[in-house]
Amino acid sequence: MPLSERQTLTQYLIEQRRRFPGASGELNALLLDVAIACKGIARAVAQGELGADPASANADAGDVNVQGEVQKRLDVISNQMFLRQTEWSGNLAGMASEEMAQPYPIPARYPRGKYLLVFDPLDGSSNLDVNGAVGSIFSILRAPPEVVGAHRDLTEADFLQPGTCQVAAGYALYGPVTMLVLSVGSGVVGFTLDAHIGEFKLTHPNIAVPEDANEFAINTSNSRFWEPPVKRYIDECLAGRSEPRVKDFNMRWIASMVAEAHRILMRGGVFMYPRDTKDPSKPGRLRLLYEANPIGFIMEQAGGRASTGRQNVLGVAPSSLHQRIGLVFGSRNEVERIERYHQEPARKAPAPLFAERSLFRE
Ligand code: AHG
Ligand code: MN
Ligand code: MN
Repeated sequence: MPLSERQTLTQYLIEQRRRFPGASGELNALLLDVAIACKGIARAVAQGELGADPASANADAGDVNVQGEVQKRLDVISNQMFLRQTEWSGNLAGMASEEMAQPYPIPARYPRGKYLLVFDPLDGSSNLDVNGAVGSIFSILRAPPEVVGAHRDLTEADFLQPGTCQVAAGYALYGPVTMLVLSVGSGVVGFTLDAHIGEFKLTHPNIAVPEDANEFAINTSNSRFWEPPVKRYIDECLAGRSEPRVKDFNMRWIASMVAEAHRILMRGGVFMYPRDTKDPSKPGRLRLLYEANPIGFIMEQAGGRASTGRQNVLGVAPSSLHQRIGLVFGSRNEVERIERYHQEPARKAPAPLFAERSLFRE
């Protein structure tokens, strides 16, 4: 298809809005601002060390974020790009991000809008050192009317909404090409950045996750900390063609959830960063509000599923801004199987001698 015939992001959003005659256009304006922030981040990421001050070629910003993780220079720059591009336009009442301990209320010099923006400005940023794929993840929620009307200040509690309350969610992936994948609640669409004209063009009009999969992604270095249902699921995948799965599985681990989510949207699979026993103070590695919920929303909108292992992740009532959670997402049948394994009573481990011999299996 000639490039000029592809819809731009703006055209797509206008068409979606026409389905809701009462819509004010604020959500579209916000999404377009987010897209501009993502284009800026794409540019900064693509510059790599060339974009850094040669006097401080070190990639770390030197600070530690609220998670206790060292912030990279590009984590900080990306966070600033989200703030500066979206704060002024009157569409937001506040923001929250992985890189800010507290919520960010819209400064008084700008009008307050009706939405809240929650984001991970740069996901998978440990991949920056190795020129691997990274991305940005965002989630849009409604702000309480009292905050929109400036009858009270914004609080952390205003952000603690379950994933089912999301109005829109999406991510940008900064890979060989930059892509923007989003859902405004009517399916999932993907745009590819045409760097020559600086526009996102609709290249993936109807993204659907295959129901079944034979590819899984998990950090197996944590296997000794896994809970029994996770161990069982992975053992069965590894058993491959032999029972019980009777098919071979492939494995991938990019260490950038946004890139794994994209692969799964393109060809199916399951991603797991489950709750484990590695650090009892952390019920999972990934963050509920700006990692699990937006990716969960996208997965559901694409016909997949996202779960804690125990329940649909979108149904979890958040308790704090930076809450971590166990996360499993991807092809619906695989995620449901993992949930079933969590529901079934703990199985007695078979005697090691016979464990792998189908003749003796129960
Ligand atoms: P972030 O860079 O925003 O801190 O997130 C990284 C996350 C996620 O993208 C990835 O799947 C996971 O951390 C990688 O964890 P391991 O280091 O355990 O592989
Ligand atoms: Mn992240
Ligand atoms: Mn991040």
